[in-house]
Amino acid sequence: PGTIITIDGPSASGKSSVAQRVAAAIGLPYVSSGLLYRGATYQVQRYRVNPEDEAAILATLEAHPIQLLPRPEGNRLLAEGQDITEQLHTREVDAMVSAVSKHKRVRQYVYQRLRELSPPFVVEGRDMGSTVFPDATRKFYLTARPEVRALRRVPERNAEYETVLQEILRRDQADRAQLAPAPDAVLVDTSEMGIDDVVRTILERIPY
Ligand code: CDP
Repeated sequence: PGTIITIDGPSASGKSSVAQRVAAAIGLPYVSSGLLYRGATYQVQRYRVNPEDEAAILATLEAHPIQLLPRPEGNRLLAEGQDITEQLHTREVDAMVSAVSKHKRVRQYVYQRLRELSPPFVVEGRDMGSTVFPDATRKFYLTARPEVRALRRVPERNAEYETVLQEILRRDQADRAQLAPAPDAVLVDTSEMGIDDVVRTILERIPY
């Protein structure tokens, strides 16, 4: 009943699609933690807050809260009751999200939103297994070579391969503090795997 499956990994490692499909296969909701960081970043941009000003970011989130709806067909993010999900996967948000999410109190704000959700669920992010849900039932960590991740992301952003690759490398570097896999996570290198193989690999290791 309290089952929590964590799926972590760097940008464009396939976490979101994999988590969504694993969750559907075992009949659990899935939760995207990155959407909360993206939503926080959207508010920072909307209210023209300095992304280095931790106190101002927190004040903005208190005054203009965000809410995650873990819908099985795709998580939705509400800001002040308005669905802003479609605005969150842009290069503008990509470019600022690491700066916003590096702040300790921003992370605590997101952790709190995540811990309010009641299990069972499948949750994806960077530090779900290592920090937020250390007692999770099963933990997975997806990796892939940066070049492969860039190739996967090109169709999702309107940009050249080289640009996307540089942006991915920059975000890996900026996110490195929360990118270490939990010691008890199963590592899956997806560089040479299709999504079906990744999903199958995970399902084989889940007690369902
Ligand atoms: O797939 P991609 O990594 O591009 O997007 P995401 O999972 O939505 O994460 C976006 C950003 O949110 C990351 O680059 C991190 O800066 C931050 N993030 C984080 O710090 N911790 C998490 N658990 C999830 C996301």
